[in-house]
Amino acid sequence: MKLTANTIPAFLLLAGFASALTVRQDSTSHLLQPRRTKSLLISPAAQPALPTIQEATAAAAAAGLNLDNIQGDILIGMKKNQELFYFFSIADAAAFKPKLASDILPLITTTTQLLQVSTQPTTMLNIAFSATGLSALGITDSLGDADFAGGQFAALTALGDPGSTNWVPQFAGTNIHGVMLFASDTVANIDAAVASVESALGSSITKLYTLAGAVRPGSEAGHEPFGFLDGISNPAVEGFIATPLPGQAPVAAGTILLGESGDTGTRPAWAQDGSFLAFRQLSQLVPEFNKFLTDNPIVMDGLTPQQGSDLLGARMMGRWKSGAPVDLSPVFDDPVLGADPTRNNNFTFEHDGVNLATNQTFCPFAAHIRKTRPRADLGTPEDAIHHIIRAGIPYGPEVSDQEAASNTTTTERGLAFVAYQSNLANGFQFLQQIWANKPNFVHTGEGYDPIVGADAGAPRVVTGLDPTNSTKSLTLPIDFIVSRGGEYFFAPSLSAINTTLSV
Ligand code: HEM
Ligand SMILES: *[C@@H]1O[C@H](CO)[C@@H](O)[C@H](O)[C@H]1NC(C)=O
Ligand SMILES: *[C@@H]1O[C@H](CO)[C@@H](O)[C@H](O)[C@H]1NC(C)=O
Ligand SMILES: *[C@@H]1O[C@H](CO)[C@@H](O)[C@H](O)[C@H]1NC(C)=O
Ligand SMILES: *[C@@H]1O[C@H](CO)[C@@H](O)[C@H](O)[C@H]1NC(C)=O
Ligand SMILES: *[C@@H]1O[C@H](CO)[C@@H](O)[C@H](O)[C@H]1NC(C)=O
Repeated sequence: MKLTANTIPAFLLLAGFASALTVRQDSTSHLLQPRRTKSLLISPAAQPALPTIQEATAAAAAAGLNLDNIQGDILIGMKKNQELFYFFSIADAAAFKPKLASDILPLITTTTQLLQVSTQPTTMLNIAFSATGLSALGITDSLGDADFAGGQFAALTALGDPGSTNWVPQFAGTNIHGVMLFASDTVANIDAAVASVESALGSSITKLYTLAGAVRPGSEAGHEPFGFLDGISNPAVEGFIATPLPGQAPVAAGTILLGESGDTGTRPAWAQDGSFLAFRQLSQLVPEFNKFLTDNPIVMDGLTPQQGSDLLGARMMGRWKSGAPVDLSPVFDDPVLGADPTRNNNFTFEHDGVNLATNQTFCPFAAHIRKTRPRADLGTPEDAIHHIIRAGIPYGPEVSDQEAASNTTTTERGLAFVAYQSNLANGFQFLQQIWANKPNFVHTGEGYDPIVGADAGAPRVVTGLDPTNSTKSLTLPIDFIVSRGGEYFFAPSLSAINTTLSV
């Protein structure tokens, strides 16, 4: 890294130590000083804003939640601008543990810190450990989650992956002990933070793999690589958000955080305020997906072929590219609705005089957002336990002209998918295995989730996509999303790092 007048202070502020530098500041008071004037997070209009520090503090006090003890990534959702996932193994636990306490813990970004620009660090750092990573640290307590204990590689068949041939080799197995999440508004900040953390940890860890995520450019900010706005519908966690937006699912803190109210698992005391992090590298075949839409437009009076293709895509997702839900805007996109967080999540799939169990005129039963959150399909009040906080970010370059023209992906891109929950068998793994991959959920014969559903790579049949004839089926010849694997991690509280994992 080239050191300039601008980068030196940022580097020192982040690192809190300066062993790699010839310039050394002895005082640590600068660590407490305001670090930023501009947020490290994105805030597209259509995504719910984060609570203010006052709102969150009041909600946390009322619920008895300690937002200073909860790692910052868990509750904030898909708001990172640039993020690096740094997967490592612990090479020397005896050397790693004291450094975890002395060098890493002070850099871990809390939930509270992220809520105000003035308390945000230059680069956010979070850390999480796999089951084998906790073992490497000498932890023998069970966290009470069989899927976490087994690791994601053992679950690949259950998740619908066609074996591990598409898996990133480092994910195939149980070698990854942990992941560090670095996030900032610039890659240079992240690079500097990685350099300081690497220099602090030295040979106590081994870097196994990294994946760099980034917000998409310009007006695509917040949109996933197929072009749909993401990060709209995350649950409102009690103790963080006092007033859910219309249609936002209220969940007990224990749905996401271990040991909090609503968590029914048996956990060691130190696991409180931690969360399971399900990571998946999901590559997206964007030109192939677009060609499929072009080739299969919904034919309806008054629609051009392009509009018919857009409608097919919207019905597969359950939302238009703007974020507007097809349940509220069934034939055409409505960008004003899409951009309004007080309205864009305010639906249940119920409509007066329309049969909820048979009528797919508004939203197909199999649509991605209906499979993964069936709302009124499972009755009211809504199911409370199968909720996750999605906190991923796109990765890879924009589609090139050459890829678009050839209808063929040549450079990998997709979603670095992150889901937080207190119970993997209720959260990510359930949504993937029991809902998205099951053609008879929620209604017999509706087919697969056309976005993330998987059947070991076999073609998937979906019905209900054509609003003019809901019994008509469409066969998706290939998976437009290809799993490259991942791992299950535990993102511990700051006090757990301090009192248990580093000793
Ligand atoms: C590359 C893969 C994926 C893409 C492109 C994708 C895209 C989207 C989009 C565009 C939305 C609508 C925006 C929103 O409500 O925030 C959404 C919502 C959602 N997705 Fe995905 N998704 C992917 C993977 C997954 C996976 C693997 C799961 C879980 C197994 C999942 C679960 C959900 C849930 C729970 C919602 C919110 C539903 C609601 O509350 O209405 N997604 N996704
Ligand atoms: C949310 O939807 C309900 C039911 O359709 C409606 O009565 C209410 O006005 C909507 N709220 C907003 C903010 O649009
Ligand atoms: C579904 O409901 C819509 C709106 O009321 C209606 O026009 C349509 O005929 C219904 N479709 C079926 C299959 O019942
Ligand atoms: C790409 O797909 C479109 C839509 O099917 C088609 O018109 C075009 O000829 C295809 N291009 C190539 C190079 O195959
Ligand atoms: C609807 O689609 C099914 C299956 O393709 C077909 O058998 C049926 O004739 C269609 N109905 C109408 C009214 O077109
Ligand atoms: C870690 O524990 C030590 C000793 O109990 C305490 O002084 C320190 O404030 C703790 N740090 C954090 C971040 O909790």
